[in-house]
Amino acid sequence: MTTLTGASRRWTLRGAQTEYTVAVPAHGRWLELVAWGPHGVSDGPSAVAYDGPVPFLTAGDAAAIEYATDADRPFTGADLVVETAAGDRRVGLGYTGEVADPDRRELAVDFADPVTGLRATVHYRVPAGTDVVQRWVELTNAGSGPLKLVRAGSAGFCVPTPHGALLSHQWGQWEQEFQLSHVELGHGAFTIGSAQGVPGHLHVPWLAVRDAAEPAGPTWGVAVAWTGSWEIGAERDTGGLTRVRAGRQLVDGPLELGPGDRLTLPVVTGAYSPDGLDGLARVWHTHQRQLAADRLTPRPVLYNSWEATYFAVEAKSQLELAEIAAELGVETFVVDDGWFVGRNDDTGGLGDWTPDPAKFPAGFDAFIADVRALGLNFGLWVEPECVNPRSRLYAEHPEWVYAVDGRPLTPVRNQYLLDLGRPEVAEFVHSTVDGLLRRYDIDYLKWDFNRPRTEPGRPGAAGPLDLDGAHVANLHRIYERLRHDHPGVLIESCAGGGGRADLAMAARADVFWPSDNTGPLDRLAIQYGFLHANAPHLLSSWVTDAPGMFDLRPRSLAFRFVLAMAGVLGVGADIRSWTAEQRAEAAGWIARYKEIRDVVTHGEVHLIGGPDQARCAVQYTAPDERRVVVLAWHTGRLDGAGLLPSRPVRLPLRGLDPAARYSDGERHYSGTHLTAVGLPVHWSPTHDADLIVLHRD
Ligand code: GLA
Repeated sequence: MTTLTGASRRWTLRGAQTEYTVAVPAHGRWLELVAWGPHGVSDGPSAVAYDGPVPFLTAGDAAAIEYATDADRPFTGADLVVETAAGDRRVGLGYTGEVADPDRRELAVDFADPVTGLRATVHYRVPAGTDVVQRWVELTNAGSGPLKLVRAGSAGFCVPTPHGALLSHQWGQWEQEFQLSHVELGHGAFTIGSAQGVPGHLHVPWLAVRDAAEPAGPTWGVAVAWTGSWEIGAERDTGGLTRVRAGRQLVDGPLELGPGDRLTLPVVTGAYSPDGLDGLARVWHTHQRQLAADRLTPRPVLYNSWEATYFAVEAKSQLELAEIAAELGVETFVVDDGWFVGRNDDTGGLGDWTPDPAKFPAGFDAFIADVRALGLNFGLWVEPECVNPRSRLYAEHPEWVYAVDGRPLTPVRNQYLLDLGRPEVAEFVHSTVDGLLRRYDIDYLKWDFNRPRTEPGRPGAAGPLDLDGAHVANLHRIYERLRHDHPGVLIESCAGGGGRADLAMAARADVFWPSDNTGPLDRLAIQYGFLHANAPHLLSSWVTDAPGMFDLRPRSLAFRFVLAMAGVLGVGADIRSWTAEQRAEAAGWIARYKEIRDVVTHGEVHLIGGPDQARCAVQYTAPDERRVVVLAWHTGRLDGAGLLPSRPVRLPLRGLDPAARYSDGERHYSGTHLTAVGLPVHWSPTHDADLIVLHRD
């Protein structure tokens, strides 16, 4: 795969439909992008190369550099800024060699700095069958003096945007996560990130870039696989190139790289689709399905008791709920917050992970056995990285929380954060969760995280510390160990809703809780954004009571069920107060979900319309194209079901064979008809959502 073009070295990585070509120019100072797009895009002149004059700039500022130091790009933004003990910057690298695999799916290009001894290896990996390129950098201090990393990005991605860059991103807050927005960038920069030690609610570590003149055309994406503080910045230069820098945000200050030290920076992943944002979503889905590997199975239908009982958990009422849940067809019963000692509200208990004997008088084992006797699996909520000041754990180990010497602690939701980077804390967290899984018959864990890190300190510790890096590394290790030792336990990642959803977690957790907001119309917008970045097997969704806690615009039970079926169906309502009719309807929806969930899990997703348009639907086409599942919602913004307009709409389905014929059991449609004219859906004041299953004739 290595080819010499003139005096330069050039490599092409090949994905399922895409290729990514990089080269080291003759001067050998950096690696440059040649082309990134569909197969064949590397032939002919490069759309990102620049060899014009650069008055008042350097050649590196204008070049499509893959990984730039501040010596390479002194004015337009570097990925790596290194400082020596003497305070000198401008580390310059030179090419020294590469390791390239003959399948053209992996490449590692080595660089070294003769002055400081810093070595940098720029890594690429294209997982088989995907259109993503995973990139990361490994830094080694092979010199004799300590180095300080002032900036340590993982990669720069260059995208040709001759008519302006159309950026798509997702912003939010607690109860309003994954809000998809678009911004047109003429010139200048756009930055998103998190300084919270968790991916956070404010921005999703995900960005899409298109040329403004072709919104439905070629689309590039960048996402950060890092469960701590991160940043993504996009800057469009004078010549029309948009360069996206992505990686960690060094919230604890510069990183120390002592002589002999090696540091691997997190993976950031690039994605390409010729088919706009919708096509890009499918590229991300394929990647995440591959990350899930053999754990990509249809998830069980769960019931979660949080909204029914909040902290007032006790055996009797939980069993009442479990009994009804079992009748509805639920498969896993999850007891949320409130089951452990000292936990009657959010002011106490976190840290003391022992079932409260007052709430489970016959014992927790007996309670779980009673749930299981109903034919249900059992799940439990935990938040093991946090501690309430009112707990035994805090009384015994006040030194375990993040703190700055001599400064007051900042409680958030009445709790502090444990310093997971400390080996004894990591051991405590692992053994607490592992102990629960060994001691009790548990199939499902909801792992929560309800506060950001405010204090950048470890009392008594000498020297600068990479607290963010250590916390994330231990979190990942604990997840990996638990998955290895308890392969049958599914783990849900939650952080006060959707605050912990990144590609690193997609490789370690089985499902994400995207938001505490389950109000129908708000939820529709949240899920619509979520599915642009995440596959349906990661989308946990519950049917809750109407009107919901947050969104007071009620919709039918059908709407709420069809909405929760778009990923992993759950129920979170107080089903004790549901009427016999509501329970019968719910049982019907759950049974139908079980028939379609393999298509939802494995099918090709097309996002049709949107929450702000007259129609909003998700189409899932089974891999063999024999079944197509369409979930559709009436998005009318008028409050009150009686005011919904009752005209039919047509949903244009995508990606079907025009020659094929499909049937919904009553009528027959051709693929052409479904694509060009669309699937007719009739709304009425009482009929505001649909689940349609088409079978190929
Ligand atoms: C967070 C979660 C909720 C629930 C509560 C329990 O807010 O997002 O789903 O588990 O914690 O305290």
